Amino acid sequence: MILITGATGAIGRSLAGQLRQAGAAFRALVRDEAKGRAMGCDFVVGDFDDPNSIIAALDGADRLFLNSAGAQPVDGEQPMIRQQKTVIDAAREAGITHVVKVSVWHARQGAKLSQGAHGEIEEYLQASGLAWSLLQPAGFMQNFLTPEAFTSDGNLISSYGSTPVAHIDCHDIAACATVLLAGPLAGPLAQEKAFVLTGPEALTDAEVADKVSSALGRPVGRAELPPDSLAAAMRSQGLPPRFADDIAFLVKEVAAGSQATITTTVRDITGRPARTFDDFLAANLQSLRAVAVPPTP
Ligand SMILES: NC(=O)c1ccc[n+]([C@@H]2O[C@H](COP(=O)([O-])OP(=O)(O)OC[C@H]3O[C@@H](n4cnc5c(N)ncnc54)[C@H](OP(=O)(O)O)[C@@H]3O)[C@@H](O)[C@H]2O)c1
Repeated sequence: MILITGATGAIGRSLAGQLRQAGAAFRALVRDEAKGRAMGCDFVVGDFDDPNSIIAALDGADRLFLNSAGAQPVDGEQPMIRQQKTVIDAAREAGITHVVKVSVWHARQGAKLSQGAHGEIEEYLQASGLAWSLLQPAGFMQNFLTPEAFTSDGNLISSYGSTPVAHIDCHDIAACATVLLAGPLAGPLAQEKAFVLTGPEALTDAEVADKVSSALGRPVGRAELPPDSLAAAMRSQGLPPRFADDIAFLVKEVAAGSQATITTTVRDITGRPARTFDDFLAANLQSLRAVAVPPTP
C-alpha cells in the first residue's frame, strides 16, 4: 500500500486519481479531515509537524510518495527540511521499501529556497538506507492558475524576458510517480534514480500570453516585471527582504536559461508524450478564467 503525502496538493490530487485508475492500493495523508472525505479515497489525518501522526499514517504502508508545500516566506530554515526529514525517519522505522520524492530541477545543498531545501532533503534521503527515486521538475504550468500570475487587469506578469521555460503539467509529474511507485523501471531507465521532468516545449512569456489569449478568447498582454522589481513588490507587501531577494535570484537564473532545455523523461517513463501548454489550458479553463480576470468595463 502506498502512502501519499501532500495528497491535497496539485500533484497529490492527480496522483490519487491516477493510482485509483491503475487499481493500486493507496492512502492519502491529509491535515484536514473534511479535505480527506472530499478526496473520496482511504485517508488518514496527520501533520508533518506531529511525528507520531506520521508514524501512525505509515502503518501498513510499504511505499511512500513524499511531497510537501514549497518554499515559505520565513526567515531561517525552510520548514520542508524538518518536515520531510521527519517523514523519512518514520519511513525507515516503518520498513518502507521505496520512496518517490518530489524535488526540483537544480536542487543542491547550499542553493536558495526550495533548491537548497530539496538538495538537503535529497542528501538525507540518499543516506537513509531507504530505496529512493527523485522527481526534479521544471516550473509548474499550474503556477499560471494562481492570482500571482496575472495583473488585476488580467494580463500575464512576465519576469523571464524572452527566455523560454519548459513548464511541466503536474499531471505528468503524478503520472511518472504512478509508474515509479508500481515497481522498478525496465530498459534504459532501470539504473536511473533522479529524473529531470519538463514539458514537451519551452515557451517564452510572450508565447504563454498568446496561448492564454487563445484559450480565453480575449487579448492577454504581458506586464513586464523584471526580477528586481518583483523583489521590491514582494518587500512592499511585507514579505521578508531575504526571501524576496532569493526569489529574485532564482527568477534571474530561469531568465538566464536554467529551465530552457526540454527532456524526454516523461515520455520515457510513462510511454506517452508530456502534456503541451495547450493541453493544460484546455483541461483547466475554468480555473484559468477565475484568476485571469479582465476589469469590468
Ligand atoms: N511550483 C513550482 O513551479 C515547482 C517547481 C518544481 C518543484 N516544486 C516543488 O513541488 C512541491 C509542491 O508540490 P504541489 O504543488 O503539488 O504542492 P501544493 O499544491 O503546494 O500542496 C502542498 C501539500 O502539502 C500539504 N502540507 C502542507 N503542510 C503540511 C503539513 N504541515 N503536514 C502535512 N501536510 C502538509 C498540503 O496540505 P493542506 O491541503 O492541508 O495545505 C498540500 O497537500 C514543493 O516541494 C516544491 O518545491 C514546485
